[in-house]
Amino acid sequence: MNILKEALPGVHPGKALDVGTRFGEFAVRLAEAMPEGSEVIGIDNDASAAEKAREKFAEKGLLFQQMDAAAMDYPDETFEVVALSNTLHHIEDYGKVLSEMLRVLKPGGFLVLNEMYRDGQDAAQQVHEAQHTLEAKLDCILGGYQRRTWKRKEIIEIFRGLPLRDMTFTDFHEEAVYDAKLEAKNRKLAEEVEKISGQPEYQTLKQEALDIQARCRENGIRRCTQLLCVGRK
Ligand SMILES: C[S@@+](CC[C@H](N)C(=O)[O-])C[C@H]1O[C@@H](n2cnc3c(N)ncnc32)[C@H](O)[C@@H]1O
Repeated sequence: MNILKEALPGVHPGKALDVGTRFGEFAVRLAEAMPEGSEVIGIDNDASAAEKAREKFAEKGLLFQQMDAAAMDYPDETFEVVALSNTLHHIEDYGKVLSEMLRVLKPGGFLVLNEMYRDGQDAAQQVHEAQHTLEAKLDCILGGYQRRTWKRKEIIEIFRGLPLRDMTFTDFHEEAVYDAKLEAKNRKLAEEVEKISGQPEYQTLKQEALDIQARCRENGIRRCTQLLCVGRK
């Protein structure tokens, strides 16, 4: 079952936009959910991510561009669908990005927010949550921005604050392929902390990494459940 397709009933063929696309994985899902004759574009403000997405998926007919989601180049009311997947917690001023997404969305079009959350997770998923939180701390120390993921009800509150109708909320789990990737990342977690060696947080975060690796050996690791929020403009 294509959960995304189910969540876009009666969507018109046309343009669809995946914001914060990174390597384009969600853009591909969006392309699979859109009717024939549609065009899917992924944007990311990181030029190297957009380039990698292009290398991976351009032959599928998807287009990838480098662009800041807080100030998009597109005219008002361009897209039938505008999506943001697992990116909200990477954006400090996310209100600005959500307003831009609404601006470029056509009236009657679908706004999609897909976001993993941290509460109600089993032991293996809690290992993913801990790993993700540690990665977010490292990212912030190294000059990036990433907050800890929200609780399920907090994501719903953010989404309910948007001027949309016919809202739906669907929980879903990624396929196992992501868990193998997470396990590989887990094996390198303590090494990742070396990037901040010499910084005041180093010792604490090194210990945190070793503890998370021990928990992974005991419980395994599984991607946190995601909440797919959809509403119409
Ligand atoms: C966790 S990744 C996205 C994952 C991907 N959407 C998925 O679901 O597999 C977050 C991405 O958001 C991008 N990003 C962060 N702030 C952005 C902004 N203001 N404009 C565009 N992209 C942004 C980052 O460069 C990063 O590639």
